[in-house]
Amino acid sequence: MKKINIAIDGYSSCGKGTLAKQLAQKLNYVFIDSGAMYRAITYAIIESDISIEDSEKIESLLQNSHISFEYNPEQDYFSTLLNGVNIEKEIRTMEVSSRVSEVSKLESVRNFLVKQQQQIGLHKGVVMDGRDIGTVVFPDAELKIFMTARPEVRAQRRHHELLLRGDMQTSFDDVLSNLTERDSIDSSRAISPLKKADDAVVIDNSEMNKEQQLALAIDLVQKIIN
Ligand code: DC
Repeated sequence: MKKINIAIDGYSSCGKGTLAKQLAQKLNYVFIDSGAMYRAITYAIIESDISIEDSEKIESLLQNSHISFEYNPEQDYFSTLLNGVNIEKEIRTMEVSSRVSEVSKLESVRNFLVKQQQQIGLHKGVVMDGRDIGTVVFPDAELKIFMTARPEVRAQRRHHELLLRGDMQTSFDDVLSNLTERDSIDSSRAISPLKKADDAVVIDNSEMNKEQQLALAIDLVQKIIN
């Protein structure tokens, strides 16, 4: 069967990752969470105490950063590894969430990560979620989805996720203000801002459950591969 690349972009916490994972599982494709890659670099910058203005140190940090993913079958999720070390929990903290958009503005970081993402997509059969996948990383993706949902719905989902991960400190309001701020920075940055590709299909999942959004996306895939 013909293999395609699927680009899923959209606002923070609107279920892009969930849909991407579901699709990858159903189609037996590779799933890549590009946001985790930006989070991994942000975490490395925080850990090394580097200023985001220090371009030389950031360049050398990038050259020494190897990001990979590992599937954890018991929990049915992918962990992000930085130089072989599992940093999945660390990259989901509010500290990383509050700094990741600033780091994602840096040209050196974007060039470094986009190159790796494009390499992964060369053989097709990839579902990648992010902000610039349909516009910059895979401009030729056969299927592009742009996801959105109401901010309150998104904050509720992310807050619930943090509680499940054992974070009892972060309030719903903290999550809501973090994600609206990230949306604003991500959409207005100079390089590769978050925006819908002209040929992307919009899915607003505010009132949809996971099964409904998957059914809708599978329908879109079938129309392309059949
Ligand atoms: O998908 P996420 O919320 O985990 O992504 C974290 C941040 O990474 C997001 O606020 C902006 C940045 N990002 C990006 O600039 N480009 C991407 N393709 C993916 C994420």
